[in-house]
Amino acid sequence: MCINGTYLSYRRRSSWLFKTLILHLLIIYVSVPFLIRLFPALLAKFVFFNIMAFPLVDFGKPELLLNHTVNFYLTTEPEVTVGVWHVLPGSRGIEAQGKDHSWYEETLADDNPIIIYLHGNGGNRASGHRVSLMKVMSGAGFHILALDYRGYGDSSGCPSETGLTTDAMCLYDWVKARSGNSTVLFWGHSLGSGVATNVARKLLEEKGIQVDLIVLEAAYTNIREAAAHIPITMIYRQFPGFEYLILDSMALGDMFFRNDENVKVLSSPLLILHAEDDPILPIHLGRKLFEIALHSYENKDKVKFVAFPEKLGLAHENICIDPELPAIVKDFLKSIK
Ligand SMILES: *[C@@H]1O[C@H](CO)[C@@H](O)[C@H](O)[C@H]1NC(C)=O
Ligand SMILES: *[C@@H]1O[C@H](CO)[C@@H](O)[C@H](O)[C@H]1NC(C)=O
Repeated sequence: MCINGTYLSYRRRSSWLFKTLILHLLIIYVSVPFLIRLFPALLAKFVFFNIMAFPLVDFGKPELLLNHTVNFYLTTEPEVTVGVWHVLPGSRGIEAQGKDHSWYEETLADDNPIIIYLHGNGGNRASGHRVSLMKVMSGAGFHILALDYRGYGDSSGCPSETGLTTDAMCLYDWVKARSGNSTVLFWGHSLGSGVATNVARKLLEEKGIQVDLIVLEAAYTNIREAAAHIPITMIYRQFPGFEYLILDSMALGDMFFRNDENVKVLSSPLLILHAEDDPILPIHLGRKLFEIALHSYENKDKVKFVAFPEKLGLAHENICIDPELPAIVKDFLKSIK
């Protein structure tokens, strides 16, 4: 009897605990969209995701991860300083030994193409898939300038769409002041694709400069549409008012990342890369962006879309491990010359 009684009260107690837990989860689930609508800045925490500050590395020692690489800082606005790595083309690796920063700067005019790498959200310039891309493209004869936008890595400040665009613009100006006749291209991955087209559009509209080439890897049309498709919003898609409460809050939080509008204005050669099995930003978003660009570009040969088959398993971050990648980029560069 006694054992039975204890058992029953245990049962009752655990079912009460369970109900309380469910109730709390339900309250959280229901309040999050309203909180986001009231405080759209909360949404920025998810979009930029710079609180995910791994890996922890000594940014001043890129040689732990990459050969022939130097670290330096650019002040992009008063109070904002961003960290940058310059990875040399592998072909210049041996002569680079023991050379100082000014020697590295001079190499930018050596006619090897220069990638300004604009990373996606979360992590920093030392994240594994980013370092892999730098190795691959350096091996293929490219310079890579990889920055951490404000609020990421060892860069100061807080991320915002205009802030990221300003940081990338400053790096472009810095490179162009040293690059002579070398080709300079933007490579934007994921969220960074929006930064790439923002800067390219700004350069065109404000300075009449046409960027030599723009590569968009795992891109999207705009942040609102991206948010409607990424897995994290899945549990809210059936929520009454999802569009009003969550998607519309992007604009209230000053986040647009209008790749779709930007490509209508641009005329730079555009190479869009997407894996068929991308689980974060589905390939139809990249394809839609391509269709928009193709429709508005006068010279259709300047826009190219490359889909990486599902069987390669490249997903959202690993297009860089496809051995075809350097040739795809080089062939496109040749075709537009
Ligand atoms: C640098 O290059 C050497 C020789 O190719 C290689 O063994 C080493 O792993 C490289 N270091 C890094 C950090 O990639
Ligand atoms: C760039 O090309 C022009 C024309 O071919 C040439 O006159 C100039 O010297 C080159 N500049 C550099 C820095 O190589």
